[in-house]
Amino acid sequence: MSLNVLKSKRLVRTRVIGGVAATAAAAAILLVLGLDSVRGEQAKATGNSVIFNLQPYLDRSGFVATYSENGNISQKSAFFQSLGTNGRSCATCHVVSQGFSVSVTGVRERYTSSRGRDPLFASVDGANCPGAGPRDEADHSLLLEHGLIRIGLAAPVVSTQFSVQPEYDPYGCSTDTSTGQQILSFYRRPLPTTNLRFLSAVMFDGRESAALPLNDPATFNANLEADLTTQALHAVQTHAQSAADPTAAQLADIVRVELGLYTAQFWDFRAGLLSAFGAKGGPLALSRQTYAPGINDSLTPSRFDPTIFTLFEPWTNQRRAFSAEEAARTEIAAGEQIFNSFPIHITDVRGLNDNPALGNPSTITGTCGTCHDAPGVGDHSLPLPLDIGTGHSPRYETNPQIRNALAQLNFPDLPVYRISGCTDPFTGEGTIYTTDIGKAMLTGQCTDLNRIKGPILRGLAARAPYFHNGAATDLNQLVNFYNERFNMGLTNQQKAELVAFLNSL
Ligand code: HEC
Ligand code: HEC
Repeated sequence: MSLNVLKSKRLVRTRVIGGVAATAAAAAILLVLGLDSVRGEQAKATGNSVIFNLQPYLDRSGFVATYSENGNISQKSAFFQSLGTNGRSCATCHVVSQGFSVSVTGVRERYTSSRGRDPLFASVDGANCPGAGPRDEADHSLLLEHGLIRIGLAAPVVSTQFSVQPEYDPYGCSTDTSTGQQILSFYRRPLPTTNLRFLSAVMFDGRESAALPLNDPATFNANLEADLTTQALHAVQTHAQSAADPTAAQLADIVRVELGLYTAQFWDFRAGLLSAFGAKGGPLALSRQTYAPGINDSLTPSRFDPTIFTLFEPWTNQRRAFSAEEAARTEIAAGEQIFNSFPIHITDVRGLNDNPALGNPSTITGTCGTCHDAPGVGDHSLPLPLDIGTGHSPRYETNPQIRNALAQLNFPDLPVYRISGCTDPFTGEGTIYTTDIGKAMLTGQCTDLNRIKGPILRGLAARAPYFHNGAATDLNQLVNFYNERFNMGLTNQQKAELVAFLNSL
């Protein structure tokens, strides 16, 4: 990011009405931070680099920034070191400037500039199938077009209720039985390695927090540290193809760095500083957000407040939008209210509508916050993997509402698996088709099929595409998905408000 970028985006303006002082001060801060970022970039080139605290990075709708409780982030930390044999570090797939995930734009830039030789594209999981050559673009299509990493998981063998067969296998490696075990290929987005203090499950299917769950305030901190330590070990073994395991000190260093990070959008091109005029956007306010397991459990009505986000409350009910910036702030605040209060009729969701503890309700009238209930962050404050349909197959889907919703997305060409032995709780069908078996890969239980966690909803603008399989190219597609999936009937204006809000998180 350079000062030219800042100028070209016309962030530095002289204005005569409404909040001149705040806007000018914010611009000055941004310029100073911008200079720091240039220095950071130079330091990187000399191999002795530090990422300055709160350094802003350009993204789709403004700037994202990360606050590190441990101060400037040293790239000498084990998080940034290659600890295996293929040149990868954690930061290969968890990029600071891309919300600690990878954006498709970032992936494409790296592919082009390295001609496919960046360690990200190592064929072990950075290609559609193992064995792909670095320069074969078609063999890296899922990563290049959807930001997907291949996750090979062994099918459950112990007390499993179902069997799995490949139904559609576009790349020829959906199922590997060469080791005697049935290893299935799923393709998933790197989850952000920031804001981890708010997690209730580690990995989309929760496999790294299954043994030491994050559901009890008394054990939360200890379990989170232990889960992340094991996760880091597994990441080095698989993604970095290590010959020897990392040391305990290296693992502790990775977890210390990760747990100190808070990432959020900090500046919006149209609305300006997201913490101006009483608003609480940006990573500093986020670092002060309280959290504990079950803090706002949507499934226990007496303990649930649907007002999940209050970041932009001070921007509501402005008398009248005087300027484009004020109009943009009002729009973001309106989007926040939609998230908190727009009624959603939740149907056909595994984990909710087939949940005996809830009485198998055919419809739950809720809000976005029914599933994204953690205050200020928007994951679920207890482990609650759900199947909203994102992992179904558009080819085989029979539920018209889910089919229409999937049609709003840019769905990747993924392998499809046929599940026998389970009955679909909503359609009654005995054969189930899926592109991601989710938590049932751990448990072998029919009730866990396709169920995955919803990620933390901060720093979204820096890390498109969305959903575990990168099927939503942008937040417009994501909102259109929800609009069809739950028959919301949003107007174009409401959609734009919701997108503006999500971009400001
Ligand atoms: C090749 C890309 C890649 C590399 C390298 C990589 N990761 Fe990941 N990471 C992923 C993917 C993909 C997921 C999601 C996988 C899933 O849910 O099944 C993930 C998930 C995670 C999560 C879970 C976050 C959450 O919200 O549950 C953590 C923590 C994490 N990675 C840490 C690390 C660490 C630490 C390293 C380095 C030792 C590392 N990763 C290296 C791709 C990568
Ligand atoms: C019935 C539960 C449910 C409801 C209601 C719900 N979500 Fe989600 N949300 C999820 C789940 C589960 C995921 C993960 C899906 C995936 O990754 O494939 C998710 C993912 C997301 C993501 C993507 C995050 C990422 O990093 O990829 C966003 C953004 C999001 N939801 C916003 C919303 C908004 C806005 C609403 C209200 C219009 C909403 N959700 C309503 C369950 C729900």
